[in-house]
Amino acid sequence: MCGIVGYVGPKKALPILIDGLKRLEYRGYDSAGVAVVTRVQDHPTLRLDDGVTRTSFRPTIEVVKTKGRMTDLEAKIGESRLDERARPGVVAMGHTRWATHGVPSDRNAHPHTGCDGQFAVVHNGIIENYAALKEELQKEGHTFRSETDTEVVPHLLEKYYQGDLEEAVRATVRRLKGAFALVIASAEQPDRLVVVKSSSPLVMGLGDGENIVASDIQALLPHTRRVVVLDEGEMAVVRRDGVDVTTFTGVPVEKKVWEVPWDPIQAELGTFPHFMLKEIHEQPRALRDTLAGRVSEDGDIDLGLKMSDAELAAAERIYLVACGTAYHAGLVGRYLIERLARTAAEADVASEFRYRDPILRPGKDLMVVISQSGETADTLAALREAKRQGVKVVAITNVRGSSVDREADETIHTWAGPEIAVASTKAYTTQIAVLTAFALYLARAKGTIDVGDGRGAGDGEGHGDGGELWRRLAGDLRALPQKAQAMLAHEAAVKEFARECVQWHDVFFIGRGLDYSVAMEGQLKLKEISYIHAEAYAAGELKHGTLALIVEGVPVVALATQDALKDKTASNIQEVKARGATVLTLVKDTDKEITQQSNRVIPVPDTHDYLMPALTAIPLQLLAYHAAILRGCDVDKPRNLAKSVTVE
Ligand code: AGP
Repeated sequence: MCGIVGYVGPKKALPILIDGLKRLEYRGYDSAGVAVVTRVQDHPTLRLDDGVTRTSFRPTIEVVKTKGRMTDLEAKIGESRLDERARPGVVAMGHTRWATHGVPSDRNAHPHTGCDGQFAVVHNGIIENYAALKEELQKEGHTFRSETDTEVVPHLLEKYYQGDLEEAVRATVRRLKGAFALVIASAEQPDRLVVVKSSSPLVMGLGDGENIVASDIQALLPHTRRVVVLDEGEMAVVRRDGVDVTTFTGVPVEKKVWEVPWDPIQAELGTFPHFMLKEIHEQPRALRDTLAGRVSEDGDIDLGLKMSDAELAAAERIYLVACGTAYHAGLVGRYLIERLARTAAEADVASEFRYRDPILRPGKDLMVVISQSGETADTLAALREAKRQGVKVVAITNVRGSSVDREADETIHTWAGPEIAVASTKAYTTQIAVLTAFALYLARAKGTIDVGDGRGAGDGEGHGDGGELWRRLAGDLRALPQKAQAMLAHEAAVKEFARECVQWHDVFFIGRGLDYSVAMEGQLKLKEISYIHAEAYAAGELKHGTLALIVEGVPVVALATQDALKDKTASNIQEVKARGATVLTLVKDTDKEITQQSNRVIPVPDTHDYLMPALTAIPLQLLAYHAAILRGCDVDKPRNLAKSVTVE
């Protein structure tokens, strides 16, 4: 998705814009640009009434933009010598564009200005009624220079501006339909930016005598950790000494100032070659931070939920709704909720759920949305559909202050720290840790697990065992960080298997139960980062068709960690080996039999079967990473993909 940075303050803005846009590169883009309100002398010195001669200046907006990468933009800024004219103290904005309307080109890059250059605008989202607006404006004599939807905004501002910038913005916004985060600068009021939020995220960083606006908290981190997040239908006038937030209709809004817990160092690359590898290796810490204070040594679990046990116990069905990797975490959650809390659960892809006209029941159904960024449009839409039907929503997200965080009834944050690489890794394993704790928490509320204090008369697993299963799971949950560290030690073995995978066009992942859920995540990682086609199959399904694709040498990753299913998976491993497949098996380090049957083995430290996904995912992430490196792919910014899909 596009990246936005705006600055109002006493410093030279261009370096701030460039640094901020580079921090947002991971979101994916194909062009970039900046606009700086500068001052140029537009007519000879004037003799004013008071007899004093002054040179009057008419501030002017200058735009430099280009197709390509940030390096191309920096070169173009240098050639234009904009940085010499962009003196301290004038407002400025920058943008990295991920093309939706109009091909990647210099003309279609943002910022966009109107006919007379009075306004500059950058935009995230899609203006759905831009064609009709463009036709109306052209009939009124406006000349368009780009194919974008965005360009209607500066022309509308020109149409409605009568000296009051805010009023012109309100009049403009009333005409727009769709998703838009806008940052607007006016040459005539160079001391302020006006920002608008409708669906696409927009945050403001409050500095000391300066303020910064951005599409993502990452860009604010070097300057401030005090953040104000705009909500739906809000706009703000941003000056160096403060921000005034109102609704689109002008009603003032008091906003909470969030203290972002991340420090800039965390968001830096450090000694790693890529963010993805850094974040894979951060998982032990991310798991430790996410579980801290939630799973105590004596086995208590506290998720800070406001919902009562009675409310949770009344839930008859749990909907886990998410996209991509977060959806794969939901598959794990569904399994654990049904097993431990004996409650019906389903995992849904948000883009399907939001359009299937779901029948939800207030008080009986509960939705759990999972989203690393907290800004995924489809997941947000599913959340809003549940709330429209009166169903409570619990969010699991990594970003405090994100739309999902603010709109859910309850939030259980993952504490993975900033996840920069497009491929979600530490977010996934911390989501699984939270979902495991949630399944236990729900089981305790429903009394389907014995927690050892005489409660737990239900019929779930561990019933009447005096709390043995509860303590085992809570203990293994607390031990996850150390065991995740042990999984990282297999990187060299995984890299060897990656060398075999890159020789092939297809790689298969097979497993049963929770292993199948992780296989789904493994195939997505490999595809999205190395561009090798991969498929995950329920191991029992192979003989119903896919076995026809297993030929001599084809790489197959088999997950066989579930005691109740591993013998059946062992048969499936034999099926593919008999047809010549090269098999990498992930199996408990205590399981000798399957180990002997495989070409390569990644032993997994023994832990309860339910906690295996957070461990087996790690070698699969490393496999994708090393395969991508061997194929020379852009690991952190894979083609066509974006970190946060804030449009449908
Ligand atoms: C994960 O590797 C992908 N980049 C993608 O599937 C991602 O998980 C999905 O877009 C959901 O993002 P979210 O967790 O921020 O909602």
